[in-house]
Amino acid sequence: MRELPERPELRDLRDLRDLRELLKSLRVWDTDLPGFDPAQAPPSPLPLFAEWLAAAAAAGQTEPHTMSLATVDEDGLPDVRTVMLHGVEEEGFHFASHAGSAKGRQLAANPRAALGFYWPAQGRQIRVRGEVTAATPEASQADLHVRSTGALAAALVGHQSEVLGSQDELERASVAAWERAQAQPDAPAPTWTAYALVPREVEFFQGDARRRHIRLRYRADGSRWVRELLWP
Ligand SMILES: Cc1cc2nc3c(=O)[nH]c(=O)nc-3n(C[C@H](O)[C@H](O)[C@H](O)COP(=O)(O)O)c2cc1C
Repeated sequence: MRELPERPELRDLRDLRDLRELLKSLRVWDTDLPGFDPAQAPPSPLPLFAEWLAAAAAAGQTEPHTMSLATVDEDGLPDVRTVMLHGVEEEGFHFASHAGSAKGRQLAANPRAALGFYWPAQGRQIRVRGEVTAATPEASQADLHVRSTGALAAALVGHQSEVLGSQDELERASVAAWERAQAQPDAPAPTWTAYALVPREVEFFQGDARRRHIRLRYRADGSRWVRELLWP
């Protein structure tokens, strides 16, 4: 590994020029990265996704099951936030949230989204684009009730993306939600919704220290997947 140039500590940042210096001093792909041979890639993307996720976890990547979820609002303005990946099954990427949240309303109006994963431990990025479908209320509640008490308590608090009057208000609602989640593990959280993104495109990016990054895109063409390399 190359020696890092001296960089200003955060406490020394006085203005945005210092921040620019700090940013210049930070490195990417400055570690031992795995290889990736696109010629050996499977015919469809989900087995490769599963392989890369397991490899990221094995390489010590923290929280490899978190992903950026991008949607667009009714004005066409993009929005993005982090959510948890619950599974990759039946050809879709599964996650869950409140139907009344900003993302829930955006998905109801425009059920298309993108997902982004970045696993710096291996210099790997995966991008997914496609259509989103919402599960039935029964399936959504079942998905919630196999999760942790904390997940149920968080879902029971509700009101996601609404303006919060004060932290005290959240504290009270959260205490009540934790008590309910502990006493009633199958308590319903009516707006909690499980979603599945069915991929139309999945791109695998393997970073390379010499910047000869490998990009392999799977593109759905009817019922088959077309695989193509992309310039980095
Ligand atoms: C690591 C991490 C995991 C998260 N997982 C979820 C999740 O699975 N579902 C969810 O609704 N929000 C999750 N959040 C919170 C969202 O990022 C976001 O703040 C919230 O869903 C409201 O987004 P919205 O206003 O765009 O709807 C997570 C946040 C982080 C940082």
